[in-house]
Amino acid sequence: MSEGIYLHGYSEWEQQRLLQQNDILSKYIYQRIDLSQATRILEVGCGVGAQMIYMLRKYPGIHITGLELEEKQLEKARLNLMHSGISESRYTLLLGNATRTGWDTLQDFDAVVMIWVLEHIPDCEAVLRELKRVLKPGTQIWITEVYHQSFATYPAMPAIQEFWQQMIHFQSRTGGDANVGLRLGQFLHSAGFQTEWVAPFPMLFDARNLPGRAEMFEYWKDLMYSSIDSMEKNGYNVLQNWAQVEYELTQLKEDANSVFYYSFIQAKAAI
Ligand SMILES: C[S@@+](CC[C@H](N)C(=O)[O-])C[C@H]1O[C@@H](n2cnc3c(N)ncnc32)[C@H](O)[C@@H]1O
Repeated sequence: MSEGIYLHGYSEWEQQRLLQQNDILSKYIYQRIDLSQATRILEVGCGVGAQMIYMLRKYPGIHITGLELEEKQLEKARLNLMHSGISESRYTLLLGNATRTGWDTLQDFDAVVMIWVLEHIPDCEAVLRELKRVLKPGTQIWITEVYHQSFATYPAMPAIQEFWQQMIHFQSRTGGDANVGLRLGQFLHSAGFQTEWVAPFPMLFDARNLPGRAEMFEYWKDLMYSSIDSMEKNGYNVLQNWAQVEYELTQLKEDANSVFYYSFIQAKAAI
């Protein structure tokens, strides 16, 4: 992240949002991630521990090491894991930078999981090269990333679209890439991984699933809201249109014929 700007910030509200985000998205994210053959997992960019809690509950036999750059996030992860009731013997939390781990021996993990992290990192290939350097041959890697240009609604909503485009623009200014999912295959290839697959995960909600659609519009509101503070501080006048964005989201939620569409991108590879 350049100049220390992080799109979503590290506020209490944002830390809570990361947990709620995973309650909603985990049912989609983990449809293709299979850790049933793994015992020792490394989660890169574990944030406040939302993914760790999900994975530790889903796979009772695994141990996860969570690597995180920000001390504040790691502290929150420690608290969240403690409150989850999961035994401390099943996880380790490490403060560190995935671009420069400082590990000088090969690390013994069966699988690496990285979710919504590369989008914030200026040099994604450097992270993958570093992982390739420190992980033993055969280690599997599962990556899930954003592809924000795919977001669409029917009917199209001008204030939402404008806000979204500004958010994408701002993320590139922070050194990240809101469309990084598109390049996962290319990064893995350049870093020397053997890529098994790279695939979009389309989320399309319409009148056939009204509760799912409503949940997604609500989630989207929080996702956009999470970037307002940082954007305002960096010269984007997004607050003045926020009431209109909320109004359009309410219209979409109340319109029986509206459609939500977004596709994130996942990859599975090995060293
Ligand atoms: C959007 S959060 C996602 C957290 C978690 N993966 C989840 O899905 O809930 C991205 C996290 O990656 C961390 N991060 C960013 N760059 C990193 C790096 N170079 N090394 C380790 N962690 C990093 C950030 O501090 C942040 O906590």
